[in-house]
Amino acid sequence: MKLAVVGGGSTYTPELVDGLARLRDVLPVTELALLDPAADRLATVGGLARRILARAGHPATVTCTSDLEAAVADADAVLLQLRVGGQAARERDESWPLECGCVGQETTGAGGLAKALRTVPVVLDLAERVRRAAPDAWIVDFTNPVGIVTRALLDAGHRAVGLCNVAVGLQRKFAALLDVRPAELHLEHVGLNHLTWELGVRLGGPDGPDVLPGLLAEHGGAVAADLRLPRALLDRLGSVPSYYLRYFYAHDEVVAELRGKPSRAAEVAGLERELLAMYADPALDTKPELLARRGGAHYSEAAVALTAALLGGADSAGSGVQVVNTRNDGTLPFLPGDAVVEVPAEVSPAGARPLPVTPPGPLYAGLIAAVAAYEELALEAALHGGRDRVFAALLAHPLVGQYTLAERLTDRLIAHNREHLAWA
Ligand code: G6P
Ligand code: MN
Repeated sequence: MKLAVVGGGSTYTPELVDGLARLRDVLPVTELALLDPAADRLATVGGLARRILARAGHPATVTCTSDLEAAVADADAVLLQLRVGGQAARERDESWPLECGCVGQETTGAGGLAKALRTVPVVLDLAERVRRAAPDAWIVDFTNPVGIVTRALLDAGHRAVGLCNVAVGLQRKFAALLDVRPAELHLEHVGLNHLTWELGVRLGGPDGPDVLPGLLAEHGGAVAADLRLPRALLDRLGSVPSYYLRYFYAHDEVVAELRGKPSRAAEVAGLERELLAMYADPALDTKPELLARRGGAHYSEAAVALTAALLGGADSAGSGVQVVNTRNDGTLPFLPGDAVVEVPAEVSPAGARPLPVTPPGPLYAGLIAAVAAYEELALEAALHGGRDRVFAALLAHPLVGQYTLAERLTDRLIAHNREHLAWA
């Protein structure tokens, strides 16, 4: 089995390789192809990848290349984890929206739109080349904004599923609090990528008892502290929002906070420098602790389980149910069928089929529908360009809404991303 990773020189790669080493029975990879345009970085990351596998006695070979066709030839699955423009572009996404009093974030709000506009054309071009070189390969997209990028891939007819680690992170957190194994918990996880809530937590599977009320009663304080939201809010919702909901529920508070500290991009750039220096040490043959300070912790668990299920391999969790980004197809009745949602789905070589969910009430549905409409307009802007389309997406975003604000953000978005926008 061959796995190709686009953006293989990412500092996240050792997280993935650590998962491959630990979960080799689930996903028996024989070749791992790492693709990246940054040769030095790729050599460093590839070296550590080889040492992690060797330490585990894993037989897979690791190839490092900047040639896409070579990397994906005969691949069974292709993982996308690239970042167009690197942390420098992210830094800008996190900065200029703050000048307008809006959250500066890489996937939420105006910064997320900028990232979508830079990323969608690049990913579609890559996917087209993947389709020619490896027509049967599954594309697993971890590239943000995952909802919009997955929608772009599916609309273009690719065999693609979108992946995020928020659900696995909460599953592990809840399992630790309840003292059970993560696989024993089925999350009633609904919404869009980075706009989700756990409406229930079923013990033992989708038909098991809902342990969320008890979990909130006993551990609501710990859960709320992790999300940096008030416990009273969680109690009133009776659900657990993802930490990305803080950008909505505490928008102004977050803006004030972000204005007073270095950007996450700058912080991550520092972490990456440290990580790469560690990776270059030939004595290192494990994933360093420091990597846990990146947001993608445990991403490998989700990536390995999802890829294994798509390729029809052994299923670690036993059920084949994974939280993924895929077509709505009526799962959330208030959204168009072709919207991309993030929900539990039955995953098999035939693809991801969402399980039925209890439809979220108006408290959730209104926000989900508004952001889904924004995502549709954002994709239009990413595909066809033009100032008016950028403006329309921003005007539709529930964190923007006002036309003067949308105008100011539009000007800044274009000015800061000209080099990445073919039409600007
Ligand atoms: C979480 C999200 C990812 C995001 C990451 C950011 O893992 O699910 O989509 O890319 O956080 O982490 P970072 O360390 O780059 O801030
Ligand atoms: Mn994510």
